[in-house]
Amino acid sequence: MKRMKILSIESSCDETAAAVINMEGNAPEVLSNIVASQIDIHTKYGGVVPEVAARAHIENVIPTIKEALDFADIGLDAIDRIAVTAGPGLIGSLVVGVETAQAIATAKNIPLFPINHLEGHIYASFLREISNDEYQIPKFPLVALLVSGGNSLLIYMEDHFKYQVIGQTRDDAAGEAFDKGAKLLELGYPGGPIISKLAAEGDPNHFAFPIIDLTEAPRRNAEGFLEKPELSMDFSFSGLKTALLTKVKTMADLTEQDKKDLCAGFEKAIVDTLVQNSLRAVEKFEPKTFILAGGVAANTKLRETLKEKLPKNIDYRIPDYSLCGDNAAMIGAVAAFRPENAANTNFFADPSLKL
Ligand code: KG4
Repeated sequence: MKRMKILSIESSCDETAAAVINMEGNAPEVLSNIVASQIDIHTKYGGVVPEVAARAHIENVIPTIKEALDFADIGLDAIDRIAVTAGPGLIGSLVVGVETAQAIATAKNIPLFPINHLEGHIYASFLREISNDEYQIPKFPLVALLVSGGNSLLIYMEDHFKYQVIGQTRDDAAGEAFDKGAKLLELGYPGGPIISKLAAEGDPNHFAFPIIDLTEAPRRNAEGFLEKPELSMDFSFSGLKTALLTKVKTMADLTEQDKKDLCAGFEKAIVDTLVQNSLRAVEKFEPKTFILAGGVAANTKLRETLKEKLPKNIDYRIPDYSLCGDNAAMIGAVAAFRPENAANTNFFADPSLKL
């Protein structure tokens, strides 16, 4: 692989992020990874307010890029590529990163690479620790479970950038389920880390929550008879929220222990659903590698349950906690593997960009 230094920018939701990546040997490494989080601003609204997020990106984007360059002790003249999240995400947020990247790339005549936010999450597992020469990038074919606030996807990859979505949520995403569950229990935002912290002190079997097991639509065989439908790798989490609401309504006052037990049962149902479908995907596609990715990949119970349940011959990769949530290092990691001819300065931010 060619040696290069990449400046990457991410602003798809509520984090303004910039990073400098060094591509050397067979894997990229992180020289700096700066995230200006807006969580404090959005907490008082109980979720991300798009207009507020866009304004904060405008204020943060240049200082964040400058900080990433300074931390890496590098000037723009030494940058070989710029990478930026082109979508999916909030349009007002995305355009701030995209237009900033386009302006710098044009002014400095640096090739620009538009990156899909979702592939970024997967490629977080392609980053090695600084100067770790033993590191090998994940082998293909691979299956990735990508779970965040906006997505729950199972993806099969035969090679770099060859994505096949083999399972997806039919309603809420896993992170969204955590966030809505926490809101219902009046615990705060973002819900995932709060629920998993309380769940650690609760009994997951005290309150039972349903594990939703979906099937594909039934098909007719050659004789015209309906066949037994196949089990699906799709997810559904919206019923879980209703189950939680129903339980809470039937209980008078919630004690602290009730809340912990509810969190533990709720977390177990989400984790068991994600693990069940992941195992189904692994059985069907027989990958060499399994990657856990996205903000919900920070969930300890999910990380550990997958470790316990995945077949031992599969290389199981989880990014460092610092690379699970939205960040720019993962966007730079994708750009490190892109062919030179994928550079493009003339594109628009696309809020519903597909893989
Ligand atoms: O990837 P991310 O930072 O942003 C999106 O692109 O959505 O993911 C944020 C999501 C939130 O829904 C948050 O509640 C969830 O990840 N999350 C967690 C944990 N940490 C963050 N969910 C469960 N357990 C956690 N420890």
